Amino acid sequence: MVNVTYQNQNIKQESLKYTGKAKTVYTTNDPDILWVHYLDQATALNGKVKETITGKGALNSEISHLLFDYLTRKGIENHYLKKISATDELVTALDIIPIEVVSRNYASGHFVSKYAVTPMTKLEPLVQEFYFKSDALDDPFINDSQILALNLATSEELAQLRRVSQDVNQLLHALFEQIGIGLVDFKLEFGRTATGDLRLADELSPDNMRLIDTLSGKSLDKDIFRQHSGDVTVGYRDVLNRLQQVI
Ligand code: C5P
Repeated sequence: MVNVTYQNQNIKQESLKYTGKAKTVYTTNDPDILWVHYLDQATALNGKVKETITGKGALNSEISHLLFDYLTRKGIENHYLKKISATDELVTALDIIPIEVVSRNYASGHFVSKYAVTPMTKLEPLVQEFYFKSDALDDPFINDSQILALNLATSEELAQLRRVSQDVNQLLHALFEQIGIGLVDFKLEFGRTATGDLRLADELSPDNMRLIDTLSGKSLDKDIFRQHSGDVTVGYRDVLNRLQQVI
């Protein structure tokens, strides 16, 4: 499938723009629209460990679709336009800000290893961290003054990144709570439209957030792959099934 209709316009997939760890992105005949394809691929350690996992692309695509739709209804401006197949979507072409915004409700992952904190310690206020998006540099931590000095974003944009991440946290935390899932932490990315407006970008899936079953404490996210503790698609399908009951 290389042709779809979006708002009465024929959209054609054109050249490969970017190959990510779990997605490929193509340009289209409309310069304002990109075509995203989710791969059956899982990576850890910034791409150093890689594995094919059948069905993962479709699960991530559908979960991301449901979560972006939900956030759109709640007023969070984002790049998502349309789901066009089990594994593909159209998004607004943005100038991506090379900053990953990590939000943490509970201590886990690198927060535990860096600060020797007991896992799952409640973090109040919400911890927000910025990382410089660079595979070559292993996405190093970056602070506000470094971001400003390197012209990666303006101080107004930084304030917006924090505010929108906090809003997304409140919305997703409440949504997952309804279905017995704890939102431990997550990573967001943002970009600018042609007119300079900030939009939430990338994907929203268990590849980018830690989710645990509230009753059992079991991981339902990419930690299953990182820790070789089982079949990631079982956890992801569980997340999807529960989301489908409420959105
Ligand atoms: O590894 P760390 O504990 O810093 O990860 C925090 C959160 O950000 C996790 O949910 C993880 O999946 C996500 N993350 C991500 N992409 C990265 C780094 C972290 O999605 N490059």
